[in-house]
Amino acid sequence: MYQDHFSLSASSPASAAPPNMPAPLRVGLLGLGTVGGGTLAVLLRNADLIAARAGRRIEVRMVAVRNLERARSVLGAHAASLHLTDDAQVLVHSPEVDVVVDVMGGTTLARTLVLQAIAAGKHVVTANKALLAEHGSEIFAAAQARGVVVAYEGAVAVSIPIIKTLREGLTANRIEWVAGIINGTSNFILSAMRERGLGFAAALTEAQALGYAEADPAFDVQGTDAAHKLSLLAANAFGTLPQYAEVQAEGIEDLQAADVDFAARLGYCVKLLGIAKRRGQGLELRVHPTLLPAGHLLAQVHGSMNAVMVQSDAAGTTLFYGAGAGAEQTGSAVIADLVDLARSASLLPHQRVPALGFARGVQAGLPVVGADEVESAFYVRLDLSRPELAAPRVLQQLAADGVRVERMAQYPHPADPELQCLVLLTAPVRLRTLRPALQTVEGWPEVMGFASLLRLGF
Ligand SMILES: NC(=O)c1ccc[n+]([C@@H]2O[C@H](COP(=O)([O-])OP(=O)(O)OC[C@H]3O[C@@H](n4cnc5c(N)ncnc54)[C@H](OP(=O)(O)O)[C@@H]3O)[C@@H](O)[C@H]2O)c1
Repeated sequence: MYQDHFSLSASSPASAAPPNMPAPLRVGLLGLGTVGGGTLAVLLRNADLIAARAGRRIEVRMVAVRNLERARSVLGAHAASLHLTDDAQVLVHSPEVDVVVDVMGGTTLARTLVLQAIAAGKHVVTANKALLAEHGSEIFAAAQARGVVVAYEGAVAVSIPIIKTLREGLTANRIEWVAGIINGTSNFILSAMRERGLGFAAALTEAQALGYAEADPAFDVQGTDAAHKLSLLAANAFGTLPQYAEVQAEGIEDLQAADVDFAARLGYCVKLLGIAKRRGQGLELRVHPTLLPAGHLLAQVHGSMNAVMVQSDAAGTTLFYGAGAGAEQTGSAVIADLVDLARSASLLPHQRVPALGFARGVQAGLPVVGADEVESAFYVRLDLSRPELAAPRVLQQLAADGVRVERMAQYPHPADPELQCLVLLTAPVRLRTLRPALQTVEGWPEVMGFASLLRLGF
């Protein structure tokens, strides 16, 4: 819970309004946790500055939470200047609210409330990537039909204005691919594994102790959160509705410390990437651990930071870096959407920047290329009991099955002195070709267990 900043010298919302300023934009906050608290703190602290930029004051008039006592203790003296309720329905239907800011999380009640707010003719700003990834088609359609805005800069790589960048800054471009480190928890864990040799479990425990990972880290380490965000990035890049169900997501929970170490010795860094890429008339949409050359720009993104790289035909390669989470960091993005609304609310719907960046021609989806058909180089590790015999046989078998090995190394097994780890870096190949070849060698007696398999590059 974010609560340290309300004592900062905040101008009272109604104070110092210059004469002739239009009526304020009246905000209802659904939730006053990390993001709700950070949003309110920045809105109060920078009220005059934000009003000067927006041309109107932006005032929080209502806040809905479950636990009123906790909210009162967070708000302190500010509790008296707004309507605090534990009934979110009251907020979404209140005539005192022009825009509902959804910062409560979850997808079931949040979906209902957001749709109700839209039906009531209110604009919506949300930081809820899960909600838009899973129900975006329905929510964007409802907003379009009702002529209101659904804005969501805070839902993706929060302090990086990447939605605005794709939708506006790069609007002239045909985008070829977007690739990003868009889950700070996973990047923190991967950085700890690489820099300090920690195993996944120890790095996760550290991330939890430092507040970089939730008590239930499943969404982060299984790639789900990154897949949610990727579906929103891809929608803006390629003119589709969010295609979350089509994203092939693999997380980092099965990644072994030995593979991070061997990759480093070969000059690579393992990063969890979200990749959306044009492929013929379709798209690749995938989240997975990826080996990047240690000198790659995305390999320089450490700890819980995020970065998104975009390849487009006119602007070329662009790179955006910043915090991927945090109270005020997300608040900054939420307020950017509020300022856009303050400036554009009086426009006709077709005069506003479209929610997904395309005024016309947004497609329900593009065909997504299956994981087996995506061609890339691979890192393969096999643990061998008799490497002098097995290694040449493995290479022969892979060659016979159409897999070209470009680099090979052998390292002692980290836990079993009887074993050697054979690491192979392949030429680009489809999983459809590589997998059967590996299944053959995995069946041999001198090959122990299953191979580690990681994509190399994108
Ligand atoms: N944290 C981040 O850095 C971050 C970054 C980007 C996006 N987001 C997204 O922002 C959203 C909020 O995240 P958060 O970290 O701020 O969560 P949080 O700290 O858990 O806060 C959630 C808030 O929502 C309120 N709430 C929950 N259920 C409610 C209900 N049924 N009725 C009324 N209020 C309810 C809670 O009230 P009580 O305290 O009374 O229960 C609390 O104030 C999520 O969608 C998240 O994915 C978060």
